[in-house]
Amino acid sequence: MGKKIGITYNLKTDIQLSAEDPADLNAEFDSEETLNFIIAALESGGHRVKKIGHVYNLIKHIEDLDVDIVFNIAEGFKGRNREAQVPLLLELFGVPYVGSDALTLGLTLDKIVAKKCFIADGLPTAPYFCAENAKDLKKLNTIGYPLIVKPRYEGTSKGLSPQSRVENLEQLTRQVELITQKYKQAALVEKFIRGTEFTVPVMGNENPQAMPVSQVKIDGKLDLGNNFFTFELVLAKDDSLQYACPAPIPPALTKKLQAIAVLAYKSVDCRDFGRVDFRVDEQGNLYILEINPLPSLAKLDVFNLFPQTIGSTYEKTVNQILNIALERYGLDQHQKVAHSKINAASHAGIPTGR
Ligand SMILES: Nc1ncnc2c1ncn2[C@@H]1O[C@H](COP(=O)(O)OP(=O)(O)O)[C@@H](O)[C@H]1O
Ligand SMILES: [Mg+2]
Repeated sequence: MGKKIGITYNLKTDIQLSAEDPADLNAEFDSEETLNFIIAALESGGHRVKKIGHVYNLIKHIEDLDVDIVFNIAEGFKGRNREAQVPLLLELFGVPYVGSDALTLGLTLDKIVAKKCFIADGLPTAPYFCAENAKDLKKLNTIGYPLIVKPRYEGTSKGLSPQSRVENLEQLTRQVELITQKYKQAALVEKFIRGTEFTVPVMGNENPQAMPVSQVKIDGKLDLGNNFFTFELVLAKDDSLQYACPAPIPPALTKKLQAIAVLAYKSVDCRDFGRVDFRVDEQGNLYILEINPLPSLAKLDVFNLFPQTIGSTYEKTVNQILNIALERYGLDQHQKVAHSKINAASHAGIPTGR
């Protein structure tokens, strides 16, 4: 039976950039094309879709959403908790939603907190240190060079340019200054992993499954060497950045990437779907770069690529993600629960705790 699905999202047009803002401020927000692509996929599954939009719109309508479930792809506004804003509100008002909860979205957006989870669970991730400012970097750096300097809680290669790979103290100082001043957050400084790069989608809850592995190609080359995903490459309208799917690698490496992707997904309590990014060095050592519990569902991304290699389609995959979430809430049967109504009523009568 078709469901009423609300969709929460941020469009690039949600933010008017001011002169002081970094030019990549709204980079992770979706385009109208991606939004329509997802809506069309859900409608092809027999569902009705209601656009809710960003978190401020959600606040306006939260007591009267009249939906069975929300498909959340909203990135939120400001700071490292931004991706958690929509899920937290939906949870508070008892509205079911697709994807990871606020805790997972917050802890994974902060790449350092996520790395601490991976390390605690014995999963491989690149050696790193955190630089709050450009002081004492010589003392902090026990890793050696080359290093890569990234913002602590951004995505979509924001803050990454060819200068992000640094080979000496002078370059390191310059990049840490840039991240702390322009992006107003600490820098995550990691050992630069020379070699190849992969991304692995994972779907499911009790028994999460890794999907086919995609390998990053830059300028047609699979062996990236010192190359990496800069923001400029993400924006490029040409085909300088491509994915090979399935990755043309030995089955043993595919299995290893998939097994570790599932462990990373479990390590940070991901729900329904996610995507894990890896680099593999020239000795074959594998490192988790990050996990994305809110991976892009855009036309040019891997969720529109891997389905074709397993006899599926983008539409089926999006509906599969929805069904995984419906099943988690026990809503996959023919039952219809007016969650927003029930909870709006009970919410009204709850005295505040403190
Ligand atoms: N330790 C590293 N060694 C080599 N390249 C890296 C490293 N960390 C990140 N990169 C490059 O930078 C890109 C973006 O980094 P990532 O940690 O995935 O952040 P995000 O995708 O959230 O911006 C990666 O896809 C990769 O190409
Ligand atoms: Mg990434």
